[in-house]
Amino acid sequence: MHVLTGADVQLIVDARSSRVPRIVHWGRPLGLEGDALAAFADASVPQIASNSVDEPVPFSIIPDVSRGWVGLPGIEGHRDGVAFAIQLSLVDVDVDGSSDPRTAASRTFTLRDEDLSIEVVIQLEALESGLVRTRLHIRNQSDDPFTLNAARLGFPVPTRAAEVLDFAGRHMREAQAQRHALTVGTHSRDGRHGRTGHDASLVYAVGTSGFGFRHGEVWAIQTAWSGNHRTFAERQTNGRTILGGEELLLPGEVILGRGDEYSSPWIYGSHGEGIDGISRRFHDHLRARTRHRTTRRPVVLNTWEAVYFDHQPAALFELATAAAGVGVERFVLDDGWFLGRRSKQAGLGDWTIDRDVWPDGLVPLAEHVRSLGMEFGLWFEPEMINPDSDAARANPEWILSPGHRHPPTSRYQQVLDLQNPAAYSHVRDAIVGLVEELGLTFIKWDHNRDLIDAGRDGGRAAVHGQTVALYRLLDELHERFPDLEIESCSSGGARADLEVLERADRMWGSDCIDAHERQRIDLWTSVTVPPELLGSHIGSSVAHATRRRHRLSYRAMTALMSNLGIEWDLREATDAEIEELREWIAFYKSVRHLLHTADVVRSDHPDPSLSVRGSVARDRSDALFSIAAVGTGVGAPPGAVPLPGLDDAAVYTVRAAAPADGILRYNGHPIPAWWEQGLRATGAALTVAGVQIPALAPDSALLIRVTRLDAEE
Ligand code: GLA
Repeated sequence: MHVLTGADVQLIVDARSSRVPRIVHWGRPLGLEGDALAAFADASVPQIASNSVDEPVPFSIIPDVSRGWVGLPGIEGHRDGVAFAIQLSLVDVDVDGSSDPRTAASRTFTLRDEDLSIEVVIQLEALESGLVRTRLHIRNQSDDPFTLNAARLGFPVPTRAAEVLDFAGRHMREAQAQRHALTVGTHSRDGRHGRTGHDASLVYAVGTSGFGFRHGEVWAIQTAWSGNHRTFAERQTNGRTILGGEELLLPGEVILGRGDEYSSPWIYGSHGEGIDGISRRFHDHLRARTRHRTTRRPVVLNTWEAVYFDHQPAALFELATAAAGVGVERFVLDDGWFLGRRSKQAGLGDWTIDRDVWPDGLVPLAEHVRSLGMEFGLWFEPEMINPDSDAARANPEWILSPGHRHPPTSRYQQVLDLQNPAAYSHVRDAIVGLVEELGLTFIKWDHNRDLIDAGRDGGRAAVHGQTVALYRLLDELHERFPDLEIESCSSGGARADLEVLERADRMWGSDCIDAHERQRIDLWTSVTVPPELLGSHIGSSVAHATRRRHRLSYRAMTALMSNLGIEWDLREATDAEIEELREWIAFYKSVRHLLHTADVVRSDHPDPSLSVRGSVARDRSDALFSIAAVGTGVGAPPGAVPLPGLDDAAVYTVRAAAPADGILRYNGHPIPAWWEQGLRATGAALTVAGVQIPALAPDSALLIRVTRLDAEE
């Protein structure tokens, strides 16, 4: 028996027989050991069912069809049409051999099918954050090639898990939560975009009936992979339920010769109280990365929506000066700076500065930016190539294609074959050269199309290899430039899985900078991505994506809850707007130490027009809450709003943290007096009963600071 504990989460694994190990329990620690543990494991085996195989059907980490499991199989593959019936036996267990310092406990199980010459190694880990994760490696030990079709792993969840929360999404509308009952069958979220996908379910969560942000028992899973992947929940008629994941392999994509190995993605699991409980574990895990930046997260100005492809050096110098004037700390030159890139139709692949637009190169701009006290960052889309580029004209074989024809273009572009050594070196060397020449400290790394019919080498499917090559390229750059920060962007938020976030310092949440939409997108994206990693920008008064017009206060209050940036042509802003923007940026700087280390809390307010998010310091001494009206309220005023996550027994001061210009006053009557005078109350009063907030106009927000009495300055 194996007990793996990380934080307050336990995995109990039965590996006493020669079968594939079985997870007996995933959840709160059960306090079992010795004989009691073994007896409990025995007692957890269900009775043999009517009309079933004549021995108990196991519920193993790799679903084992050879023992009678009739759900999705664990490993699917064959040797030229035979050898499909794999039966693995346990041959070795290695205890606590993980190389990741974030691992609290680990086991490595080695299994073999001697008849079919297949070896499988399962890694299973309980992490310090309370997350659990598993992956497998499969090796062919025969001269006959083994074609792998699928390798699935999963965690069991109890039958009391009754509902699903997962995410849909599209370009400019990421992280759209959806809920449904967890019924019998396979509920599968497949991503075949060749990237993580706008619709990727960054958490696939199941929980007890009616679970919410703060209540109910929740189990969630993420398949941490930036290529094709599946995350699923499978419930059998007898109620047995598995949460699992896999890389979706294309036909013939993985054919293992003798000694070759395929490694699956990590499948992460998070168990906790409410959605906030599972969210905190993801944040803790990412915050414990060795590369996690603990320095202040800078205010960014990104040039995209300010100038698009219209790169005029004088204008961009002026924009940089304006940015520094309002307190921006990092100036990022977006798309449009390289050879022939006057529109989306040309240039990708030609990563040299376009001297027609930048006759003196980019060094003068980089120096101007630095002379203003800001860092300089640059946009790349390294995995892509426009057919209209010198790179494509000279090296047509660099385009991923099935061989006999090209895939359809998307955004006028094709995908560059990173498994081709010459193509790989071409982009790597171009990036290295520009990082050195311009002193770049930041790269916005974009990826703006799905991989369709992505083949190479005369028609071999290439998404798996492309994904692995991307990780290799990022790793190589990080090794060479340890201080270089990389933002993961993919047409907005289409690449935000945990595996790419091992290599990223920021992610761009969405190409939709409309604060109304961003309230929801950022709220849900932050379930896995902590605020300091999530880029959110103040756009111009009229949102480019939706044409909605919002006040600056709402745009600012929305963006500053994450890693604040600006994406607005400040040369067009009025003096009053510049002054107000300067104040919001100063406010962000005064609270970012709290926002970027705190627990994120959210509230299940019955009025769906209210979105409540908070950042509560780990020691509960300080908190900032954002309450946004994302529509007209069911009630006006909306009723008391609980402020979750505080210390019940402590006494706090509650006050308006920033001016609010969306408050509605009816017929000259006063608004709740505490809004102007402040309030003193216990954590219990604030968390359980909540505060009556002033009525809000749709698309406006309040920021509330809650400080424990003994922590007040
Ligand atoms: C993508 C990104 C944008 C911007 C453009 C540039 O859409 O998500 O932020 O960088 O590409 O082409």
